[in-house]
Amino acid sequence: LVLVVDYGAQYAQLIARRVREAQVYSEIVPSSTPVADIIAREPAAVILSGGPASVYAEGAPAVDPALFDAGIPVLGLCYGFQAMARALGGEVAHDGTREYGRTEITITAPGALHDGLPTRHPVWMSHGDSVVRAPEGFTVTARSSRVEVAAFEDLERRLAGVQYHPEVGHSPYGQEVLRRFLRDVAGIRPSWTTASIIDDTVAAIREQVGDGRAICGLSGGVDSAVAAALVQRAIGDRLTCVFVDHGLLRAGEREQVERDFVAATGAKLHTAHEADRFLAALAGVTDPEQKRKIIGREFIRAFEAATAEIAAGEPVGFLVQGTLYPDVVESGGGSGTATIKSHHNVGGLPEDLEFELVEPLRSLFKDEVRKVGAELGLPAEIVNRQPFPGPGLAIRIIGEVTHDRLETLRAADAIVREELTSAGLDSEIWQCPVVLLADVRSVGVQGDGRTYGHPIVLRPVSSEDAMTADWTRLPYDVVERISTRITNEVAEVNRVVMDVTSKPPGTIEWE
Ligand code: XMP
Repeated sequence: LVLVVDYGAQYAQLIARRVREAQVYSEIVPSSTPVADIIAREPAAVILSGGPASVYAEGAPAVDPALFDAGIPVLGLCYGFQAMARALGGEVAHDGTREYGRTEITITAPGALHDGLPTRHPVWMSHGDSVVRAPEGFTVTARSSRVEVAAFEDLERRLAGVQYHPEVGHSPYGQEVLRRFLRDVAGIRPSWTTASIIDDTVAAIREQVGDGRAICGLSGGVDSAVAAALVQRAIGDRLTCVFVDHGLLRAGEREQVERDFVAATGAKLHTAHEADRFLAALAGVTDPEQKRKIIGREFIRAFEAATAEIAAGEPVGFLVQGTLYPDVVESGGGSGTATIKSHHNVGGLPEDLEFELVEPLRSLFKDEVRKVGAELGLPAEIVNRQPFPGPGLAIRIIGEVTHDRLETLRAADAIVREELTSAGLDSEIWQCPVVLLADVRSVGVQGDGRTYGHPIVLRPVSSEDAMTADWTRLPYDVVERISTRITNEVAEVNRVVMDVTSKPPGTIEWE
């Protein structure tokens, strides 16, 4: 276990992911964690992250020097590097020396982290203060044009630090530097692999569930599918998967779950066919928030009914959820499982039944979930599936949701997905919502006749995390094929338009 101490920037999660890419398990702890608690967890190493603060700022998080006396290898990055220098008696100056972005460093002395790398190489810097004197016992191993102390190490005490951000892609040797710290300085053997994740998780599920029974709501997405597959491997038939078909899915999605998921996992699946219930509840509704509320409510009812049916014979004590590590970190961390009090997403939780949660993905990042899914034999269509909102196509029909409109949108959406996939664009695109402007009509001409149909909007976006997004510059020939096919093959549509708005100001979805 490597603990990443989070000094409050976006970098801590990235560092933890990089450490795991080096096949070493890592977790994030807030900078307010007492050193005694850190030591008690017996980490094989500690990494101090970057952060937005200046070590001079009032209330800036400091490092308790006790950490360095515990014999634990420590690597300080950026802010963590400065905080480390300060805690150990070095000197940090607030002298207006700043470096932002791509910077070149020069290796000035041999050492564990940079030995053998090009003497001058680019790194990503982002700092206002700088270390002007390394603490006693440390060798300075690199400088930049602006700062004399860009990296230092004390191999005897197994402490090291760099001013730059090795975790970002703009530092081409960064991953190698992290790997060297873990392997050469801290002496950690890489052992965090997909196979070990599966073994450990399956063992933990068996221990938690014992001979109890569990249910898992499948959404068609990768998280719930992988969570279910892990639990199935652990407890077999004592897991029942519940799939609520709300009739708002894209073409082929139910079949994918019913056929491919079951074939890959052998899981017991209970499908609730509830399209009529949802359409009836959505009749006449055009307001986006109203749609979401109705769908959330009906989903829970449908899930409840299905669960009650399943539990009729024997009680079900456990509910499987696909919570991921970033959700855990963002909601304040903590480990172990909690009993659910309220439903917090369209996973649907019966309120009067008490479940213990099983969250097999609680320590995993999304890319790890995909790898685990692939290793468990889930089909690529599920493992690499792009995000799709819980309320489904209902929030991509601008206007009232009806059976016919759903059919129209499904047909257009299937064409878009087919063409993007065959053009090899899936990995470049974060997702591509296809939107039906059901209350808009425009005049067109087709064959000899006038048409008066609806526009379809293409909304291809590129993104890292859906918090911000840019519209994807699709090749024109692909756009042309999509447009021609949709207007020819989908009767109600006579116009295809493209959404060229970034997020912000636009959201990814239209509702
Ligand atoms: P927006 O439209 O807010 O979408 O830019 C950001 C990301 O979230 C997805 N999304 C949802 N996912 N339930 C979900 O599970 C929802 O209600 C929901 N609404 C939006 C959206 O597809 C995008 O990936």
